[in-house]
Amino acid sequence: MSIQLLEGKRGVIFGALNEASIAWKVAEKAVAAGAKITLSNTPMALRMGELDALGTKLNAKIIAADATNTEDLLNVFKESMEVLGGKVDFVLHSIGMSPNVRKKHTYDDLDYDMLRQTLDISAISFHKMIQQARKLDAISEGGSIVALSYVASQRTFFGYNDMADAKALLESIARSFGYIYGREKSVRVNTISQSPTMTTAGAGIKGMNDLLDFSDKMSPLGNATADECADYCIVMFSDLTKKVTMQNLFHDGGFSSMGMSLRAMNQYSKSLDEFKDEQGRIIYG
Ligand SMILES: NC(=O)c1ccc[n+]([C@@H]2O[C@H](COP(=O)([O-])OP(=O)(O)OC[C@H]3O[C@@H](n4cnc5c(N)ncnc54)[C@H](O)[C@@H]3O)[C@@H](O)[C@H]2O)c1
Repeated sequence: MSIQLLEGKRGVIFGALNEASIAWKVAEKAVAAGAKITLSNTPMALRMGELDALGTKLNAKIIAADATNTEDLLNVFKESMEVLGGKVDFVLHSIGMSPNVRKKHTYDDLDYDMLRQTLDISAISFHKMIQQARKLDAISEGGSIVALSYVASQRTFFGYNDMADAKALLESIARSFGYIYGREKSVRVNTISQSPTMTTAGAGIKGMNDLLDFSDKMSPLGNATADECADYCIVMFSDLTKKVTMQNLFHDGGFSSMGMSLRAMNQYSKSLDEFKDEQGRIIYG
Protein backbone atom coordinates (compact mmCIF):
# COMPACT_ATOMS: atom_id res chain seq x y z
CA MET A 1 0.00 0.00 0.00
CA SER A 2 1.35 3.43 -0.93
CA ILE A 3 1.84 6.11 1.73
CA GLN A 4 -1.12 8.51 1.68
CA LEU A 5 0.98 11.68 1.44
CA LEU A 6 -1.88 13.74 0.00
CA GLU A 7 -4.74 12.37 2.08
CA GLY A 8 -7.57 14.93 2.21
CA LYS A 9 -5.87 17.37 -0.18
CA ARG A 10 -7.41 18.98 -3.27
CA GLY A 11 -5.45 19.74 -6.41
CA VAL A 12 -5.68 21.16 -9.93
CA ILE A 13 -3.50 19.61 -12.62
CA PHE A 14 -2.90 21.47 -15.87
CA GLY A 15 -1.31 19.84 -18.93
CA ALA A 16 -2.15 16.13 -19.11
CA LEU A 17 -2.51 15.38 -22.82
CA ASN A 18 -1.87 11.65 -23.14
CA GLU A 19 -0.34 8.76 -21.20
CA ALA A 20 3.20 10.01 -21.91
CA SER A 21 2.55 13.45 -20.36
CA ILE A 22 4.30 14.21 -17.09
CA ALA A 23 1.02 15.73 -15.82
CA TRP A 24 -0.79 12.45 -16.55
CA LYS A 25 1.57 10.57 -14.22
CA VAL A 26 1.25 13.29 -11.59
CA ALA A 27 -2.56 13.06 -11.73
CA GLU A 28 -2.46 9.28 -11.25
CA LYS A 29 0.00 9.46 -8.38
CA ALA A 30 -1.80 12.34 -6.66
CA VAL A 31 -5.04 10.37 -6.55
CA ALA A 32 -3.20 7.22 -5.46
CA ALA A 33 -1.71 9.31 -2.63
CA GLY A 34 -5.20 10.25 -1.41
CA ALA A 35 -5.94 13.55 -3.20
CA LYS A 36 -9.05 14.69 -5.05
CA ILE A 37 -8.22 16.55 -8.26
CA THR A 38 -9.55 18.36 -11.31
CA LEU A 39 -7.82 18.29 -14.68
CA SER A 40 -7.47 21.12 -17.18
CA ASN A 41 -6.24 21.47 -20.74
CA THR A 42 -7.11 23.40 -23.91
CA PRO A 43 -10.38 22.75 -25.77
CA MET A 44 -8.25 21.36 -28.62
CA ALA A 45 -6.45 18.92 -26.31
CA LEU A 46 -9.82 17.84 -24.92
CA ARG A 47 -11.13 17.17 -28.44
CA MET A 48 -8.24 14.75 -28.96
CA GLY A 49 -10.18 12.64 -26.49
CA GLU A 50 -7.50 10.86 -24.48
CA LEU A 51 -8.06 12.90 -21.33
CA ASP A 52 -11.60 11.54 -20.90
CA ALA A 53 -10.24 8.13 -19.95
CA LEU A 54 -8.04 9.67 -17.24
CA GLY A 55 -10.92 11.76 -15.90
CA THR A 56 -13.12 8.68 -15.64
CA LYS A 57 -10.41 6.53 -14.07
CA LEU A 58 -9.55 9.14 -11.43
CA ASN A 59 -13.08 10.46 -10.95
CA ALA A 60 -11.72 13.90 -11.85
CA LYS A 61 -13.69 16.67 -13.53
CA ILE A 62 -12.09 17.99 -16.71
CA ILE A 63 -12.30 21.78 -17.12
CA ALA A 64 -11.36 23.29 -20.48
CA ALA A 65 -9.07 26.33 -20.36
CA ASP A 66 -6.56 28.07 -22.53
CA ALA A 67 -3.89 28.93 -19.95
CA THR A 68 -3.22 32.27 -21.68
CA ASN A 69 -6.82 33.35 -21.00
CA THR A 70 -7.35 34.80 -17.52
CA GLU A 71 -11.13 34.28 -17.55
CA ASP A 72 -10.67 30.61 -18.39
CA LEU A 73 -8.21 30.29 -15.53
CA LEU A 74 -10.49 32.05 -13.09
CA ASN A 75 -13.22 29.61 -14.07
CA VAL A 76 -10.92 26.60 -13.52
CA PHE A 77 -10.31 27.65 -9.92
CA LYS A 78 -14.00 28.54 -9.29
CA GLU A 79 -15.23 25.21 -10.64
CA SER A 80 -12.47 23.26 -8.92
CA MET A 81 -13.38 24.71 -5.52
CA GLU A 82 -17.02 23.80 -6.17
CA VAL A 83 -16.48 20.21 -7.23
CA LEU A 84 -13.66 19.50 -4.79
CA GLY A 85 -15.56 21.08 -1.91
CA GLY A 86 -13.09 23.75 -0.76
CA LYS A 87 -9.87 25.59 -1.40
CA VAL A 88 -7.13 24.00 -3.47
CA ASP A 89 -3.99 22.67 -1.73
CA PHE A 90 -1.79 22.13 -4.78
CA VAL A 91 -1.51 23.17 -8.43
CA LEU A 92 0.64 21.73 -11.22
CA HIS A 93 1.55 23.89 -14.24
CA SER A 94 2.76 21.38 -16.85
CA ILE A 95 2.35 23.49 -19.97
CA GLY A 96 4.76 24.31 -22.74
CA MET A 97 4.62 25.10 -26.45
CA SER A 98 6.72 27.09 -28.91
CA PRO A 99 5.30 27.95 -32.34
CA ASN A 100 8.86 28.88 -33.41
CA VAL A 101 10.05 25.35 -32.59
CA ARG A 102 7.02 23.89 -34.35
CA LYS A 103 7.60 25.97 -37.47
CA LYS A 104 11.36 25.34 -37.34
CA HIS A 105 12.39 28.99 -36.96
CA THR A 106 15.91 28.93 -35.50
CA TYR A 107 16.87 31.19 -32.57
CA ASP A 108 18.59 33.68 -34.90
CA ASP A 109 15.50 33.87 -37.11
CA LEU A 110 12.65 34.06 -34.60
CA ASP A 111 9.19 35.18 -35.59
CA TYR A 112 8.34 37.72 -32.86
CA ASP A 113 4.61 37.09 -32.83
CA MET A 114 5.45 33.46 -32.26
CA LEU A 115 7.95 34.40 -29.53
CA ARG A 116 5.17 36.31 -27.77
CA GLN A 117 3.00 33.18 -27.95
CA THR A 118 5.83 30.98 -26.65
CA LEU A 119 6.31 33.26 -23.64
CA ASP A 120 2.58 33.64 -23.04
CA ILE A 121 1.78 29.92 -23.19
CA SER A 122 4.90 28.54 -21.51
CA ALA A 123 5.69 31.17 -18.85
CA ILE A 124 3.26 34.09 -18.45
CA SER A 125 0.43 31.56 -18.09
CA PHE A 126 2.09 30.60 -14.78
CA HIS A 127 1.80 34.19 -13.58
CA LYS A 128 -1.80 34.41 -14.82
CA MET A 129 -2.65 31.15 -13.08
CA ILE A 130 -1.28 32.27 -9.71
CA GLN A 131 -2.76 35.77 -10.02
CA GLN A 132 -6.25 34.41 -10.76
CA ALA A 133 -6.04 31.85 -7.96
CA ARG A 134 -4.95 34.56 -5.51
CA LYS A 135 -7.77 36.90 -6.58
CA LEU A 136 -10.24 34.18 -5.63
CA ASP A 137 -8.25 33.26 -2.53
CA ALA A 138 -8.45 29.76 -4.00
CA ILE A 139 -5.24 28.33 -2.53
CA SER A 140 -5.30 27.15 1.07
CA GLU A 141 -2.78 28.30 3.68
CA GLY A 142 0.51 26.42 3.15
CA GLY A 143 -0.52 25.26 -0.33
CA SER A 144 2.00 24.27 -3.00
CA ILE A 145 2.29 25.44 -6.62
CA VAL A 146 4.74 23.70 -8.97
CA ALA A 147 5.69 24.33 -12.61
CA LEU A 148 7.96 22.18 -14.76
CA SER A 149 11.17 23.65 -16.16
CA TYR A 150 14.31 22.59 -18.00
CA VAL A 151 18.03 23.31 -17.43
CA ALA A 152 18.20 25.25 -20.74
CA SER A 153 16.78 28.17 -18.72
CA GLN A 154 20.24 28.62 -17.21
CA ARG A 155 22.66 27.06 -19.69
CA THR A 156 22.57 27.03 -23.47
CA PHE A 157 21.37 23.90 -25.21
CA PHE A 158 21.48 23.71 -29.00
CA GLY A 159 17.99 23.47 -30.45
CA TYR A 160 15.98 24.41 -27.32
CA ASN A 161 15.38 27.74 -28.99
CA ASP A 162 12.99 30.33 -27.48
CA MET A 163 11.75 27.77 -24.94
CA ALA A 164 14.98 28.55 -23.04
CA ASP A 165 13.84 32.16 -22.63
CA ALA A 166 10.37 30.99 -21.60
CA LYS A 167 11.82 28.68 -18.93
CA ALA A 168 14.07 31.47 -17.57
CA LEU A 169 10.96 33.66 -17.19
CA LEU A 170 8.99 30.78 -15.65
CA GLU A 171 11.65 30.24 -12.98
CA SER A 172 11.76 33.97 -12.25
CA ILE A 173 7.96 34.11 -11.84
CA ALA A 174 8.22 31.29 -9.27
CA ARG A 175 10.63 33.42 -7.23
CA SER A 176 8.70 36.70 -7.57
CA PHE A 177 5.27 35.23 -6.76
CA GLY A 178 6.78 32.87 -4.19
CA TYR A 179 7.77 35.92 -2.15
CA ILE A 180 4.31 37.51 -2.31
CA TYR A 181 2.25 34.37 -1.76
CA GLY A 182 4.68 33.02 0.84
CA ARG A 183 4.60 35.99 3.17
CA GLU A 184 0.79 36.28 2.81
CA LYS A 185 -0.44 32.69 3.02
CA SER A 186 2.64 30.47 3.37
CA VAL A 187 1.94 29.26 -0.16
CA ARG A 188 5.03 27.67 -1.75
CA VAL A 189 5.92 28.33 -5.40
CA ASN A 190 8.66 26.24 -7.03
CA THR A 191 9.80 24.91 -10.38
CA ILE A 192 11.08 21.38 -10.95
CA SER A 193 13.76 21.14 -13.64
CA GLN A 194 13.23 17.74 -15.21
CA SER A 195 15.50 15.57 -17.40
CA PRO A 196 14.63 15.38 -21.09
CA THR A 197 11.61 13.07 -21.33
CA MET A 198 9.97 11.51 -24.39
CA THR A 199 6.54 13.17 -24.40
CA THR A 200 4.59 15.00 -27.12
CA ALA A 201 6.28 18.31 -26.17
CA GLY A 202 9.66 16.60 -25.70
CA ALA A 203 9.53 14.98 -29.14
CA GLY A 204 9.35 18.46 -30.70
CA ILE A 205 12.84 19.42 -29.46
CA LYS A 206 15.50 19.35 -32.16
CA GLY A 207 17.75 16.26 -31.80
CA MET A 208 15.70 14.90 -28.89
CA ASN A 209 17.01 11.32 -29.20
CA ASP A 210 20.64 12.47 -29.06
CA LEU A 211 19.85 14.82 -26.18
CA LEU A 212 18.24 11.97 -24.24
CA ASP A 213 21.26 9.75 -24.84
CA PHE A 214 23.78 12.50 -23.97
CA SER A 215 22.12 13.53 -20.73
CA ASP A 216 21.65 9.90 -19.73
CA LYS A 217 25.38 9.26 -20.24
CA MET A 218 26.28 12.45 -18.36
CA SER A 219 24.05 11.83 -15.32
CA PRO A 220 25.36 9.56 -12.56
CA LEU A 221 21.80 8.42 -11.84
CA GLY A 222 20.70 8.42 -15.48
CA ASN A 223 17.76 10.44 -16.85
CA ALA A 224 14.76 10.85 -14.57
CA THR A 225 11.57 9.37 -16.02
CA ALA A 226 8.13 11.04 -16.10
CA ASP A 227 7.04 8.62 -13.38
CA GLU A 228 9.92 9.64 -11.13
CA CYS A 229 9.18 13.31 -11.82
CA ALA A 230 5.60 12.68 -10.69
CA ASP A 231 6.89 11.18 -7.42
CA TYR A 232 8.90 14.36 -6.80
CA CYS A 233 5.84 16.52 -7.52
CA ILE A 234 3.85 14.55 -4.93
CA VAL A 235 6.52 15.21 -2.29
CA MET A 236 6.46 18.91 -3.22
CA PHE A 237 2.65 18.99 -2.83
CA SER A 238 2.84 17.22 0.53
CA ASP A 239 3.37 18.64 4.01
CA LEU A 240 6.92 17.22 4.01
CA THR A 241 8.22 20.28 2.09
CA LYS A 242 6.45 23.13 3.91
CA LYS A 243 9.51 25.38 3.98
CA VAL A 244 10.68 24.85 0.40
CA THR A 245 9.79 27.82 -1.78
CA MET A 246 11.11 30.09 -4.58
CA GLN A 247 13.43 27.29 -5.74
CA ASN A 248 14.29 25.74 -9.05
CA LEU A 249 14.72 22.11 -8.01
CA PHE A 250 16.75 19.89 -10.30
CA HIS A 251 15.27 16.46 -10.90
CA ASP A 252 17.77 15.25 -13.45
CA GLY A 253 19.87 12.37 -12.08
CA GLY A 254 22.71 14.80 -11.31
CA PHE A 255 23.08 16.17 -14.86
CA SER A 256 23.09 19.84 -13.86
CA SER A 257 26.17 19.42 -11.64
CA MET A 258 28.22 17.45 -14.18
CA GLY A 259 30.95 18.74 -16.49
CA MET A 260 32.01 15.52 -18.20
CA SER A 261 31.45 11.85 -17.40
CA LEU A 262 33.48 8.84 -18.53
CA ARG A 263 30.53 7.45 -20.50
CA ALA A 264 30.00 10.75 -22.34
CA MET A 265 33.78 11.06 -22.94
CA ASN A 266 33.88 7.56 -24.48
CA GLN A 267 30.99 8.44 -26.77
CA TYR A 268 32.61 11.77 -27.71
CA SER A 269 35.95 10.18 -28.58
CA LYS A 270 34.21 7.98 -31.17
CA SER A 271 33.20 11.02 -33.20
CA LEU A 272 35.97 13.59 -32.94
CA ASP A 273 35.55 14.84 -36.51
CA GLU A 274 34.13 18.35 -36.61
CA PHE A 275 30.87 18.88 -38.46
CA LYS A 276 31.69 20.57 -41.76
CA ASP A 277 29.63 22.04 -44.59
CA GLU A 278 30.16 21.21 -48.30
CA GLN A 279 33.02 23.77 -48.48
CA GLY A 280 34.81 22.10 -45.56
CA ARG A 281 34.04 24.93 -43.11
CA ILE A 282 33.42 23.94 -39.47
CA ILE A 283 29.81 24.41 -38.38
CA TYR A 284 29.67 25.69 -34.82
CA GLY A 285 26.09 24.45 -34.34
N1 LIG B 1 9.52 16.42 -22.07
C1 LIG B 1 10.64 16.99 -21.65
O1 LIG B 1 11.76 16.67 -22.11
C2 LIG B 1 10.59 18.04 -20.57
C3 LIG B 1 11.74 18.31 -19.80
C4 LIG B 1 11.68 19.32 -18.84
C5 LIG B 1 10.49 20.04 -18.67
N2 LIG B 1 9.39 19.73 -19.43
C6 LIG B 1 8.17 20.51 -19.25
O2 LIG B 1 7.15 19.69 -18.75
C7 LIG B 1 5.90 20.30 -19.06
C8 LIG B 1 4.94 19.24 -19.60
O3 LIG B 1 5.36 18.79 -20.84
P1 LIG B 1 5.38 17.26 -21.27
O4 LIG B 1 6.78 16.92 -21.59
O5 LIG B 1 4.64 16.43 -20.30
O6 LIG B 1 4.62 17.31 -22.68
P2 LIG B 1 3.05 17.29 -23.09
O7 LIG B 1 3.04 17.63 -24.54
O8 LIG B 1 2.44 16.03 -22.68
O9 LIG B 1 2.43 18.49 -22.24
C9 LIG B 1 2.40 19.83 -22.67
C10 LIG B 1 1.01 20.32 -22.38
O10 LIG B 1 0.87 21.73 -22.59
C11 LIG B 1 -0.49 21.92 -22.98
N3 LIG B 1 -0.70 23.24 -23.56
C12 LIG B 1 -0.15 23.77 -24.68
N4 LIG B 1 -0.66 24.99 -24.91
C13 LIG B 1 -1.53 25.25 -23.90
C14 LIG B 1 -2.37 26.35 -23.57
N5 LIG B 1 -2.41 27.48 -24.33
N6 LIG B 1 -3.15 26.27 -22.47
C15 LIG B 1 -3.13 25.17 -21.68
N7 LIG B 1 -2.36 24.09 -21.95
C16 LIG B 1 -1.57 24.14 -23.04
C17 LIG B 1 -0.68 20.80 -23.99
O11 LIG B 1 -2.04 20.59 -24.35
C18 LIG B 1 -0.06 19.64 -23.25
O12 LIG B 1 -1.01 19.00 -22.43
C19 LIG B 1 6.20 21.45 -20.01
O13 LIG B 1 6.29 22.66 -19.29
C20 LIG B 1 7.58 21.07 -20.52
O14 LIG B 1 8.31 22.18 -21.02
C21 LIG B 1 9.41 18.73 -20.35
